Amino acid sequence: MGRILDDKQIEDFDRDGYLVVEDFASRESCAALKAAAEEIVDKFRPPSRPSVFRTDEQTRVSDRQFLESGGRVSCFFEAGAFAADGTLRREKSLSINKIGHALHDLNPEFERFTYTPELAGVAVDIGLIDALALQSMYIFKQPLIGGEVGCHQDATFLYTDPITVTGFWFAIEDATLENGCMWAAPGGHRTALRKLFKRAGTAVRDDSGGTEFAELDPTPLPAPDDLIPIEVPAGTLVVLHGLLPHWSDVNRSPNSRHAYSVHCISAAAEYPSWNWLQRPASMPLRPLAA
Ligand code: FE2
Repeated sequence: MGRILDDKQIEDFDRDGYLVVEDFASRESCAALKAAAEEIVDKFRPPSRPSVFRTDEQTRVSDRQFLESGGRVSCFFEAGAFAADGTLRREKSLSINKIGHALHDLNPEFERFTYTPELAGVAVDIGLIDALALQSMYIFKQPLIGGEVGCHQDATFLYTDPITVTGFWFAIEDATLENGCMWAAPGGHRTALRKLFKRAGTAVRDDSGGTEFAELDPTPLPAPDDLIPIEVPAGTLVVLHGLLPHWSDVNRSPNSRHAYSVHCISAAAEYPSWNWLQRPASMPLRPLAA
C-alpha cells in the first residue's frame, strides 16, 4: 500500500495533533455502518438495571457491564434517557449514547469499515507502523439529549508505555456546532498527560467494578474558549493524537450526530493490566493492516 497522506497532511498532524481528512469514507459505507448500528440497538434487550454512560468524572458509571465491554458489543444509555421511575423517556432507539467496545472484531459491517488498507496506510503515514485495533465505539449523540463529552486526552483512558494511543474518528453524519461537533486544542498534544483512569484494587484482576482517576500533572486542560470546533461532513476521518485535549458539546439540535471511532495502539508498547479496557485472552488484538 502506498502513501495515503501527503507531506502537508503529515506536517499538519505533527503540528496540530489532529488531522481532518474529508471524503475518507464513502456515503455508502457510512450508511451501511449506520444501518448496522441501528440493527444492534434494535436487537438489544435492556437489562433490568441498565448501564448509563456519562463522561463527567463524578457520575461515571463503572459497573461490570462497562468493564467487560472491551470484548463485547454493549449498548450504553444516555444519562437523560430515564425518567425518575426508571422507565425510558423516549423510544429505545433514541436513548442509546453509544455501542462499545469490540464492534470492529465482532460485527462484520464494522470489521469491514475498520480493517481497510486505507486506514492502515494512514496509521503508517503518521508513524504508527504496527497499529493494533484496541477499541471501537459507535456514538449516537442523540437529538436534544446527546450528552457532553468533557475535555480529555484519550491516553488517560487507553494508556500504553510509551504513549501510543491514536484515535480514528469518523463522521457518519455531518458534525456541526448545533449538533455537538468535536472541538480540539491545536498543539495540545505537546503538553503532559494530566491523569490516568484505572481499574481500582481487585478490579485490576476481575470485573468487580471500581475505577479511579490518578493525577499525573495538575495543569488544567484547556477551557472550551481555547478549543476550536471541527465541523465536518459525513465521511470525514479525524485523526487524533492520544495526548490532544478534545471535547464535544451537548447536542441541543433536533438532529443526531452519529460517529464511529477506533482507537489503536502500537504493538511494541506495553498495555498495563490496570487499563479499564481489557480484552479476553481468547480475543487477541488484531493488526490494523491485513
Ligand atoms: Fe476522546
